[in-house]
This record gives sequence, C-alpha cells and structure tokens, in this order.
Amino acid sequence: MNKHFKAAFTAICLLVSSTVYAQPTKSDSPMLVEAGKRLFNSFCIYCHGFDGSGTDAPAADLSGVPTGDLSNKAYMSLLSDEEIISRVAYGEERFPYLQMPGWRSNLDNNKITAIVAYVRTLAVDKGPLNGPTPAERLQRFKSDPLERGRIYFLRYCSGCHGKRGDGKGWMAAKALNKPTPIGSPKIAPTLTYDSVKAYVTNIDRWDKSYMPVFSEEEIIGKLPDIIAYIKTLPEQY
Ligand code: HEC
Ligand code: HEC
Repeated sequence: MNKHFKAAFTAICLLVSSTVYAQPTKSDSPMLVEAGKRLFNSFCIYCHGFDGSGTDAPAADLSGVPTGDLSNKAYMSLLSDEEIISRVAYGEERFPYLQMPGWRSNLDNNKITAIVAYVRTLAVDKGPLNGPTPAERLQRFKSDPLERGRIYFLRYCSGCHGKRGDGKGWMAAKALNKPTPIGSPKIAPTLTYDSVKAYVTNIDRWDKSYMPVFSEEEIIGKLPDIIAYIKTLPEQY
C-alpha cells in the first residue's frame, strides 16, 4: 500500500479511536483480549471486518490484494503468536506476500500482543485448509515471478485496470479517463518493458493523464514481474 493511503488511514483510525487504552499485561487475559478488541476495531476492521473474515470490510479493496480470512482456524493455527505479531508489526516489509503495511510505528509490541490475543478469539472452524500455508505462500512469492507479478499487479494496477486487466477496477468509475484494458488480447501482447516503463514513470503526462506517475524507486524493480503477469491475462480474458 502506498504511503499516502497509509497516512490517510492512520489519520482516520486515530480520529475514530478516542478511547484511552489500558496497558495490557500477559497475566491479565480478559483485559488483554478486551484491549485487543478495541485496538482491532480502531486499526484493523476497515480492511479485515468486525469478525476478521474480511467480508463487509469497507476498505478491503484498498490494497488490491484480498485481505484474507483472519477467522479461518485452519490457516491461522499454522501461525504462532510470535509469527502473527511479527507479521502485524512488519507487514510487507518482511512478509512481502501479504501486501499489508506494518503497524509498528502506530502500535507497540504490547498493543500488538493484545490484538493477537483478540484475533485468536475470532477463530471459527471452517474445515481443513484449502489453499497454501503461510510458509508456502512466502516461498512461492520468493521463487515464482508470476506470483510476484500477480500480487504487485493487484496492488499497484488493479484498482483502476481491474483484477483481470479489463479496465474495470473499483477506482475506475471515479477516473476521468477510462483505464486502458491492458489485460485484453489486443493490448497485452503489444506491451514491452520499455513502453510500460516509459508510461508509468513519465512525469510529462501529468496534464492529460489520469494515471498516477510512479516513482522509479517504487516500481522499476517490480515491472518485469508485473509485465510477465499482464501477458498471462489474455488467457482468462
Ligand atoms: C489497508 C488494509 C489493511 C489494514 C488496515 C490491516 N490489514 Fe492486515 N492484511 C491486509 C492484507 C491485504 C493482507 C494480506 C492478506 C493475504 O494476502 O492473505 C493482510 C493480512 C493480515 C494477516 C495475515 C498474515 C498471514 O500470514 O496470512 C494478519 C494476521 C493481519 N493482516 C492482521 C492485521 C491487524 C492486526 C491489523 C490492524 C492492526 C491489520 N491487519 C490491518 C490488509 C490490511
Ligand atoms: C489510479 C488509476 C490507475 C492506476 C493505479 C494505474 N493505471 Fe494505468 N492507466 C490509467 C488510466 C486512466 C489510463 C488511460 C490513459 C491515462 O489517463 O493515462 C491508463 C493507461 C495505462 C497504459 C496504457 C498507455 C497507453 O499507451 O495507452 C498502461 C501501459 C498502463 N496504464 C499501465 C499501468 C500499470 C502497469 C499500472 C500498475 C503499475 C497502472 N497502469 C496503474 C489508470 C491507472
């Protein structure tokens, strides 16, 4: 998620949460869970929903990547408390497959510990895991360029260009120019690394374009994977 989204988010979160939090301690379990609930409701429900399932979360689309199901017992039980704490604290910085910002600049370790205690109470038995484990996801992200391309495309491009590249992303309705259907069989094959790079980083198109200009630092290293993924979109178009 980009810094502006995160800053806006944090501002919203802080506005809504006028509550003063009790400092949780490990020895006080019900208090810990109660404190965690308040923090979860202030910082996390926008994307993860009240029940952690991600359905009905107003900002679930913000990251492009679906927010996953924090109430799925089979999945979450594969992660220890410490592993969840580090994912919440560092987010995509250390666990790039998640595409969620880290929260350690807003939440200290005690607060994250409380949130995790609360998240554990949201667990619902939804049957055996039907998908990759967290460890498999991390491994796939590291070793499979198309998996990286998929996640980066969802994060950086799908909001406008649509998850299938059809130009119908959730932000597209608000865009004044129609986002190009870059995943279509007509357009995807014509895209080259140089043409896409020139377009996404071209600051001179600011007066006629409704697509953001990406900084080279943010996007260049990811573009080969993104483009490789876009080239697969016509198969499902
Ligand atoms: C801007 C949206 C957003 C907000 C706000 C948010 N998350 Fe996430 N979160 C995500 C996304 C996207 C993922 C990735 C889901 C996936 O790929 O399975 C994720 C994944 C997770 C995971 C799963 C880790 C894993 O290995 O599968 C946990 C745990 C989590 N978030 C906890 C939190 C907590 C706690 C908060 C509040 C402090 C929070 N999130 C706030 C978007 C968000
Ligand atoms: C906020 C919306 C938005 C996002 C995010 C976005 N685009 Fe676009 N894109 C557009 C719009 C709108 C157009 C149509 C022309 C214009 O306004 O620049 C476009 C056009 C394009 C074009 C066609 C250029 C041409 O020659 O016609 C390419 C290629 C492209 N985008 C690639 C990307 C890639 C790759 C990403 C992700 C890294 C991305 N876009 C993210 C809105 C967006």
